[in-house]
Amino acid sequence: MNIHHLLSARFAQAVQAMGIQDAPIPLSRSTRPDFGEYQFNGAMALAKQLKQKPRDIAEQILANVKLDDVASKLEIAGPGFINIHLKNEWLSAWCERALQDSKLTIEPHESKTIVVDYSSPNLAKEMHVGHLRSTIIGDAVVNVLEYLGHHVIRQNHMGDWGTQFGMLLAHLNDKLKSSSVAETALSDLEDFYREAKVRFDNEAGFADRARDYVVQLQGGDAACLKLWQQFIDISIQHSEEVYKKLNVSLKREHIMGESSYNPDLVNVLADLTEKGIVVEDQGAKVVFIPEMSNKDGDPAVYIVQKSGGGYLYATTDLAAIRYRANQLHAQRTLIFTDNRQALHFKQTEIVARKAGYLAESDSYEHCPFGMMLGKDNKPFKTRSGETIKLSDLLDEAIERAEVLISQRESSLSADAKKQVAATVGIGAVKYADLSKNRTTDYIFDWDTMLSFEGNTAPYLQYAYTRVKSIFRNAKQDMDTYQASVSVASVQEHDLVVKLMQFDEVLEAVCKEATPHIMCTYLYEVASLFMRFYEANPVLKPQVSEEDRSSRLGLCALTAKTLKVGLEILGIDTLEAM
Ligand code: ARG
Repeated sequence: MNIHHLLSARFAQAVQAMGIQDAPIPLSRSTRPDFGEYQFNGAMALAKQLKQKPRDIAEQILANVKLDDVASKLEIAGPGFINIHLKNEWLSAWCERALQDSKLTIEPHESKTIVVDYSSPNLAKEMHVGHLRSTIIGDAVVNVLEYLGHHVIRQNHMGDWGTQFGMLLAHLNDKLKSSSVAETALSDLEDFYREAKVRFDNEAGFADRARDYVVQLQGGDAACLKLWQQFIDISIQHSEEVYKKLNVSLKREHIMGESSYNPDLVNVLADLTEKGIVVEDQGAKVVFIPEMSNKDGDPAVYIVQKSGGGYLYATTDLAAIRYRANQLHAQRTLIFTDNRQALHFKQTEIVARKAGYLAESDSYEHCPFGMMLGKDNKPFKTRSGETIKLSDLLDEAIERAEVLISQRESSLSADAKKQVAATVGIGAVKYADLSKNRTTDYIFDWDTMLSFEGNTAPYLQYAYTRVKSIFRNAKQDMDTYQASVSVASVQEHDLVVKLMQFDEVLEAVCKEATPHIMCTYLYEVASLFMRFYEANPVLKPQVSEEDRSSRLGLCALTAKTLKVGLEILGIDTLEAM
């Protein structure tokens, strides 16, 4: 149930009934509780158009709009705003329906095919904190899109190709000669990369060998490809361990690395040349982009082939767009990387549109994110200044949560506590990231993210277990609980309106690819629930049978919303903690 849609439709009908076609229907949330929940702001513009007084137009709209079932009060305010107060009977009826509906009355969207390109680590190195953001934000957005009924195709555009593999393969080749197995040699990719780099920079002849390897690799030399495949397989296993710990939905079949586009790059270049989009410039093949000129009027230069014949990251992205359009039939593409790549994707889109690789109606959306900073406001690093491996970070989260959980009073067994700690620890790291505005930098701080107060995973997980324990005490099954609900108190009213707005929140996350909107929402749900629970006791002896079952209904709806919301964010809930 999407309140915004329903109200908009009713106002559109009213305006039409007044004989006005295609008028905009601006509707927003009210900013103050005494203004009701929603506000229709269309009277002012219509008044201008019709040369009448805004308040008169508002009066006419009121006379025409049919909202008796939904609103307890409609009032004109200020220059001609119409404030809408939602009716308790309507909210009550919704609660009963929502309790019976496993989808909580969420309206499915018209299904689109959406490609989501996320995580996409570079396999030359271990996954680091920079890939945390792409992986979990991307996965949360994927879940929202699927929940709303879209056909989502995950694409893990792994960096498994390129010149740095020359150096790595040369080093691996030498290591394997001295009989070390690949798994052992590559058990720590970070160390391995560092060793190879030291040799590349210092050892006579090594850099040349590394370059030879690149040529052989690109030429499809079988022995070289075999070595490369060994490296890639082990590196993918490292990533998969992280995905498992992180509880994200990426599987091997979602990998479509840069290497998979390699055979098609020559075709892309030929096609761009044939279409006259690409020109030669100082031996390289480039596209000039006058739409993105600098202040001297020089167009941006987008290189698709280097003078030596090598292809680039950009060429691969053009091939990816073509593949996604022709083979995957993508109508919308979302790509999650940090904001330093914003320019690249803007240019890529322009070139792809010139080449006709993207239909006009298809969107190509780079969804940038900011950096993860330490408490010193600098990029998040170890004390000695090294990048932090994602896998170490997640282990630390679980260890810290174990300490936290062991300090709490609880009747759980040691094993159950371990399970709780893992869920709380991983949940805290993911939630801390997801809850920040995607596009800005944020400070990674263990203490705040593991706090049971504030907008954190532990707070929400705890709120959920609280409802669970209410149901245990009531000896009722929450998941199948049905009740006739009667919304009466202000706290109940506010809570139910918030619960109903879940649909609007999902829609916003779908549109903007911003999971933090969902986090803020869930935090508000939990806070309104606590307020309701304090003012409207559920299990106290003085509460009537009727009130108790109605309030249990609200408890169940709250918990179900929290659970679905957290699950969508990729965060598990607990039965008790
Ligand atoms: N591998 C890249 C990186 O780590 C991200 C790739 C994003 N996707 C793409 N189609 N370019 O920065």
